[in-house]
Amino acid sequence: MAEKMAPAVEQATEKAVQRCILAGCGAAYGVRERIYVCPRCGGPLEIEVRHSASASSPAPSTTGVELQKRWAARGGSREPRDVSGVWRYRELLPFEDTAPIVTLLEGRTPLYDAPRSAEYCGLAHLRLKHQGCNPTGSFKDTGMTAAVTQAVLLGARTAVCASTGNTAASLAAYAARAGLQSAILLPRGQISAAKLAQSLDYGAAVCEIEGNFDDCMRLIQELGDDPAIYVANSINPFRIEGQKTVAFELMEQCNWQPPNHVVVPGGNMGNSTALGKGFQELLGLGLIDRLPKLHVVQAEGAAPLARLFANLKPAELRGDAPLPATMAGIPNPQTLATAIKIGAPVSWQKSLRTVVRSGGSILSVTEQEIADAKAIIGRDGIGCEPASATTVAGMKKLLAAGRVGREESVVGVLTGHVLKDPDYVGRYHNGSLVSGSGQNDSAAPRPIASTFANPPERVAASKAAILENLARRR
Ligand code: F0G
Repeated sequence: MAEKMAPAVEQATEKAVQRCILAGCGAAYGVRERIYVCPRCGGPLEIEVRHSASASSPAPSTTGVELQKRWAARGGSREPRDVSGVWRYRELLPFEDTAPIVTLLEGRTPLYDAPRSAEYCGLAHLRLKHQGCNPTGSFKDTGMTAAVTQAVLLGARTAVCASTGNTAASLAAYAARAGLQSAILLPRGQISAAKLAQSLDYGAAVCEIEGNFDDCMRLIQELGDDPAIYVANSINPFRIEGQKTVAFELMEQCNWQPPNHVVVPGGNMGNSTALGKGFQELLGLGLIDRLPKLHVVQAEGAAPLARLFANLKPAELRGDAPLPATMAGIPNPQTLATAIKIGAPVSWQKSLRTVVRSGGSILSVTEQEIADAKAIIGRDGIGCEPASATTVAGMKKLLAAGRVGREESVVGVLTGHVLKDPDYVGRYHNGSLVSGSGQNDSAAPRPIASTFANPPERVAASKAAILENLARRR
């Protein structure tokens, strides 16, 4: 895609520009340029939205206070752009007010207290923000509303993505709303049946590819050169713009008091990038007085960025340190949390930069830790898909290592709904969950212990038998 040249704009007058994040380049481009990486140097792009607030002011800026009032006033409105938990923050999005937004009324997701998960981690309190409560059951919707709106503005015919399942379901739904064709590249046999079912129902052209997610992602980068095609993966900076509003919504729910720590799963690294950008923008507006430490948790068998992070030298952990130029990928990533089965995350540089600036960390957890944490989140009455449970598993690990204190405030972001992967849930509870046994898995199969199993039991069809069974299980 890098060879598709677009003119750099030095003095853009638009509300926003796309800018290369690499220190030696920093080239800026107009927001209607259809580019996904910097045409000049191939570096990652991010959107810079202009507003009149001064950077890092200690008190809320006039702009910040005015924005807070406007956002609050939208609470009672029935206008779709006010009801959407993304578009209600439109002042900070790279679109004009007249943009033909494509929305399914995403966002406005709950922030729950999770006492059992807190106790499991060793925390006094833990809150979980459930992005699985979005229209297609995952956090992807907050980014997709922005990306598909941009696709419409650019006159694209087909929006495409590579996916481990959730991006696909989300793109398929938003493209359907917009009347656009969507095409999705999935690693054959490696995504959950529930996610595939969604994409079929929303009418996407589903292409099952022989290979893994990283192979699909490589193909997407080639397809991006075609003028009819619009790439909706999180390499696309407009996806990140939509997803950054989750940081705004979360801070509103926290009365603008940032928690000490925010923990998210890591796969292709778009989500951590987006949250970090959102917090940074609020800091710039003076709406929060510090950044929460951002922790990204990968599955042990698919943890290239956690590995790179563990080997960084202290000088490389400074906020202004230059980014490493390369990251060693994992050729054959393994995890039962198929959503994050990714060995070469495309947004690793942006994610690393935002984590380092926040003073956070990137770590990994085992399959057993993910499975048990998931069951505990279920016991809080919340539930999530396996990838989301890396958050609670990761927090438990950070507590045990003394990196997070018992009384500190922590928010975990759950990225997908429990019904996204019912096969995994059933296997955990009936004791048949085995890691390393999937397609293309080279590792020896290892059974996962069902530590918190709650299997169904056969009960005779009589009142007495049922009451006896319940008494025994009380
Ligand atoms: N959690 C869930 C449920 C996901 O589906 C994903 C990514 C992640 C976490 C990781 O987020 O990629 O922004 O770091 N799923 C993508 C997909 C890759 O295709 O659905 P990330």
